Amino acid sequence: MLHMPDKVTIVEVGPRDGLQNEKQPIPTEDKVAFINHLSETGLTRIEITSFVNPKWIPQLSDAVEVAREIKRKPGITYSALVPNMKGLERAVEAGVDEVAVFMSASQSHNKSNINKTIEETYPVLQEVVEAAGQKGIPVRGYVSTAFGCPYEGDVAPEQVIKVIDRLLEMGCQEISIGDTIGVANPRQVQAFLKLLLKQVDPERIALHFHDTRGTALANILAAMDMGITTFDSSLGGLGGCPYAPGASGNVATEDLVYMLNSMGVETAINLDKLAEIGAYMQRVTGKTLPARYLCSYLATQKD
Ligand code: HMG
Ligand code: MG
Repeated sequence: MLHMPDKVTIVEVGPRDGLQNEKQPIPTEDKVAFINHLSETGLTRIEITSFVNPKWIPQLSDAVEVAREIKRKPGITYSALVPNMKGLERAVEAGVDEVAVFMSASQSHNKSNINKTIEETYPVLQEVVEAAGQKGIPVRGYVSTAFGCPYEGDVAPEQVIKVIDRLLEMGCQEISIGDTIGVANPRQVQAFLKLLLKQVDPERIALHFHDTRGTALANILAAMDMGITTFDSSLGGLGGCPYAPGASGNVATEDLVYMLNSMGVETAINLDKLAEIGAYMQRVTGKTLPARYLCSYLATQKD
């Protein structure tokens, strides 16, 4: 029998990880409405955008406007990705509650995603974490390609743990470990966590699964069994990484909440409201989104 926690925290990354890969420009007002709807579902953590170089991610070039125009609901942490000091300055100007720095465990993905080697990245992030700390802004650290790299294939768990250690030493409060291209399997997840949790408290770890090969929910179950209680997901299963060829969306928030709620693991998130937002985002993006729960919900609405 798997060990299940009583309660799980979900970090909704749809407005950032989900939208960053959309080819068609999405109007700022639709992004703002998307986030405002998410704020009404019971979610307590929402990653709203990223303050990266707009030439690299044109879709999120309206980050300041989005962060300023959303309706902030008390009790919700609104966070954003920042790659460097310029990103932090823009995020502070826009008034986000939390920032997230990011890097990869594999050299070639780090280079293609943020144009630096792993060693060159540490001082850049260190400066951001210190400056954010001085302003009282909490920092999350993302480690991408933790279970496999689109360019290098397997990534050694020791290498991933080395990067996690450096980010924790810098002062990141939480580390989100990313299966950027959705290759992980449950046995691999448990073997990795067994190593990691010898030295890191599970409360400081989140897992970020993309569902490219359909293993994301199984990986989440495997991670819960090891004591992890924070997971990233995106509404509708929107998303992918523009610098990871073939990466599809994050595990869908609806599918994750359905699984957790129906198993009696508390999320305090309203599933019907999520599904209505999924329907809204299908209209906004003009696409059928991959979330399975959404598909079944819409089918029953037609009857
Ligand atoms: P660079 O070109 O090496 O930067 O990019 P630079 O420092 O040499 O600056 C070049 C120009 O960009 C300058 O402007 C800077 O001012 C400007 P110019 O003088 O030429 O006019 N610039 C900026 N402008 C606005 N905001 C900024 C900023 N920084 C520089 N923050 C950089 C380096 C890191 C900036 C770039 O590579 C970048 O923005 N990369 C982001 C790529 C990205 O967003 N990828 C997706 C997110 S990561 C992900 O999805 C994985 C995750 O979900 C976890 C998982 O799934 O595993 C988190
Ligand atoms: Mg991601």
